[in-house]
Amino acid sequence: MKVLFVCTGNICRSPLAEGILKDKLRKKRITAEIDSAGFENFHIGDLPDERAIKIAWKHDIDITDHRARLFTRADFDRFDKIYVMDAWHFDNTMRLSRNDNDKEKVDYVMNVLYPMQNIPVHDPWYNGISAFEEVFIQLEKACEIIAEMIREQYKS
Ligand code: 4NP
Repeated sequence: MKVLFVCTGNICRSPLAEGILKDKLRKKRITAEIDSAGFENFHIGDLPDERAIKIAWKHDIDITDHRARLFTRADFDRFDKIYVMDAWHFDNTMRLSRNDNDKEKVDYVMNVLYPMQNIPVHDPWYNGISAFEEVFIQLEKACEIIAEMIREQYKS
C-alpha cells in the first residue's frame, strides 16, 4: 500500500506523519512507498519546520531528508491511499479528483482511529512546541494503525 499524507505547507503535519510511518515500517521490516505533499506553495523545496524536526528527533525520528512539494493530480495514480489532516485539504483533494476511484483513496488520517468522525489534526504553525507535541501524539496513534494495515496486506 503506497501512502501519501497531505497538509497545507508540507512542512509540519504531513512530513511528521511520513516520518512516523516510515519509522514504524522500518521497525517492522516492511518496505512501502510513503510520501507527503501540501497545497500552499510558500515552502516548496524547504526542509520541514524546525519545530517539527525537533519533535521528531525527540522520538528518534529524522525527517530532514524531506523537501516540501505540492500535491498534484498525478499523486492519485502514484498512491493507494491519501490521508489529509483537515477539511480544507479534504475539499482541495476532492476538487482535484477525476473519478470515484480517486475519491475513494482520500480520507482524514484520524478516521483510521475514529471512523467517519473527520476529526482534524490542527495546524500547529502559529502555536508553540506543545502544539507540535500534540500533533505528534495524534499522528503516532494513527500511523500505528496504518502500519498494521500495511503489514496485514503484506501477509496476504
Ligand atoms: P502544515 O503547517 O500544513 O502542517 O505544514 C503549515 C505550514 C505553513 C503554513 C501553514 C501551515 N503557512 O501558512 O506558511
